[in-house]
Amino acid sequence: MKAPIRVAVTGAAGQIGYALLFRIASGAMFGPDQPVILQLIEAPIEKALLALKGVAMELDDCAFPLLKGIVQTSDASVGFKDANWCLLIGAKPRGPGMERADLLKDNGKIFIEQGKIIDAVAAADARVAVVGNPANTNCMIAASQAKRLPADRFTAMVRLDQNRAQTQLAQKAGVDLTAVKDIFIYGNHSPTMFPAFAHATINGQPAASVINDQAWLQGPFCETVGKRGAAIIAARGLSSAASAANALVDHVRSLVTPGAIHSIAVKSNGLYGFDANVWAGMPVKTTTPGSYEVITGYAMDDFAKAKIATTNKELVDERAFVADMIK
Ligand code: NAI
Repeated sequence: MKAPIRVAVTGAAGQIGYALLFRIASGAMFGPDQPVILQLIEAPIEKALLALKGVAMELDDCAFPLLKGIVQTSDASVGFKDANWCLLIGAKPRGPGMERADLLKDNGKIFIEQGKIIDAVAAADARVAVVGNPANTNCMIAASQAKRLPADRFTAMVRLDQNRAQTQLAQKAGVDLTAVKDIFIYGNHSPTMFPAFAHATINGQPAASVINDQAWLQGPFCETVGKRGAAIIAARGLSSAASAANALVDHVRSLVTPGAIHSIAVKSNGLYGFDANVWAGMPVKTTTPGSYEVITGYAMDDFAKAKIATTNKELVDERAFVADMIK
């Protein structure tokens, strides 16, 4: 049996946490032979900590063979201690009438603090995956505080958008989901993100030729994927949680599987027209467990370039809102 790895999760008693922790403990994220210790971090609020206690009791009651320990805490320096993976889900939601700038600043404070603590106390091989919104910019903020851990250890999740796009293409073409490959998400996890349909394939053929409806691809397809989160809220009365947790399982599973090709938001170095130093979704190939290289060389047509310019501008604007905080 391998030695257990430590997985820190913030917002552990929230909606996504509740859909996620059982899958980590069952082996879905790190594999059926990898024991885990869950280090669960919640806000220092009595109600949240009580809910966390209940979740931990349920985890106990599952008798997962791979679960070797549970830490419950509101102290991030305890929760991130020696963590190999830090899954940052907890964030402040946007309240009614709240300006985007205020949301960015409020979350900025949380992610500055967590970035500093992770850098100070997490394991030498620590990897950080950010889900709490605005995920790309929160990830950039956390990474800005790291002196020990390199920036490429910090990734933000766009996998939910990739999964949504894959399903939309399969349903439009009337094919099995697994026939759709190479659909990648560029840019921000927000309605501006761009699902680059021109590179996708269906049964090995260009998806655009199989679907043969450019107007649908450029219009309703991009819009449906971009606004899917709002559509779920309208239908369910709550934001996507099980699908977000599932996407995080996929995000990490792909990152620990050499050869996997997938979309994650990473620090840009100017590739694909993104400003250097924003965290933008793009295609990567996992090289060794936890490490990856950006897949370069996908040609972008004028439509794709315009979409990327829009989502890049949003990321640059978000960075400007918090610029004074990350100096
Ligand atoms: P939720 O409100 O149900 O849970 C959030 C939890 O985080 C709460 O229990 C809260 O007490 C906790 N929390 C708040 N601040 C904290 C802190 N500083 N440290 C530790 N815990 C803290 O929200 P839900 O539905 O679980 O969503 C979490 C986040 O994920 C939201 O920001 C949401 O917008 C985002 N999200 C991102 C997606 C993506 O694709 N990147 C998809 C869906 C949601």
